[in-house]
Amino acid sequence: MTDVLDDAVRLASAGPPHESLEAFEAALARHVPAGLPGNSINRIYRKMVPRWHFAMLNDTERNQAFSSALQAWVRPEDLVLDVGAGSGVLAMMAVRAGARAVISCEVIEPVAHIARRIIEANGLSARISIVPKLSSLLTLGQDLPSRADLLVTETIDCGLVGEGILPIIRHARAELLKEGARIIPAKARVFFSLLESSVIHRINFTKEASGFDVSLFNRFSTREYFPVRISTWSHALLSPRVQALAFDFARDALGPQTVRVPVTPLRSGVVHGVLFWFELDLGGGVLLSNSPDNASSHWMQAVQCFETPLRVEGGQPLCAEVTQDLTSIHFALTP
Ligand SMILES: C[S@@+](CC[C@H](N)C(=O)[O-])C[C@H]1O[C@@H](n2cnc3c(N)ncnc32)[C@H](O)[C@@H]1O
Repeated sequence: MTDVLDDAVRLASAGPPHESLEAFEAALARHVPAGLPGNSINRIYRKMVPRWHFAMLNDTERNQAFSSALQAWVRPEDLVLDVGAGSGVLAMMAVRAGARAVISCEVIEPVAHIARRIIEANGLSARISIVPKLSSLLTLGQDLPSRADLLVTETIDCGLVGEGILPIIRHARAELLKEGARIIPAKARVFFSLLESSVIHRINFTKEASGFDVSLFNRFSTREYFPVRISTWSHALLSPRVQALAFDFARDALGPQTVRVPVTPLRSGVVHGVLFWFELDLGGGVLLSNSPDNASSHWMQAVQCFETPLRVEGGQPLCAEVTQDLTSIHFALTP
């Protein structure tokens, strides 16, 4: 069933994007065999369009922060590039802030069609063009009339980099933006604390079940970070928050890096992993964070568990080796 629907998406998506949502759905329907149970188009949409879009759109703090930053930074003559249209909400905010025109790209074709519809329903089609493409495939002079004055992108996950913000901004700076273009977000910092939480560890690692050693199953554990709403789990933060990484999106090379940062536990305990989060400086004095204090952020927080928990002594300094590649951040602890 899953393969059948995957095949339908692949076949329907072959070739250039369709004229409309109806044309896309008609192409899908041609490849979904008749007689499949349930609403197969909706099943396909559930696979193509992550559910977090809804929580994200309803995160009023996030929306307000991006809107305020755009109000502060958009100038009347600006051509704005919005990478990752989603519903088109940031593109519409940019127009509300006074942008002359917005080009907004979206890689998931039906999402791009819906963004167009939403923009039309809000009477903003004359100022916003939705391009159903990956940002790295945009062509100057065709998709984008000229290099843009301002880039806005909210391609951010709980651990900042997992949705591709670093390569997206690197590429845009090189190929799609004017020299000195403004970028929202302007800067970001990543903070972490040592995390003691056997319950969180147990959602990603196992040892024995009903008297049997099942630890080989940890082969399938998630080694990278994943989202947790930390306030809902029994836990202790064994260290103060420590800054791991800092990015200036307009100036830094944004390549891979490894840094070593000292971290000293406040008390003795067992470190099951690290909890980390970002603080965005969107520009115009607007800050936005998914820190553990922000219990309602739709991003939640990022956690990376260590397979072997580490007993630590209060006051005994440790070193955190933080390895960041283009789309991930990994922590290792050494004495
Ligand atoms: C986190 S959502 C944000 C959507 C919208 N901008 C908002 O703030 O509500 C990111 C969107 O960007 C799209 N996307 C991610 N990387 C992209 C890229 N390189 N080019 C075009 N779209 C991308 C995803 O499909 C997703 O719809």
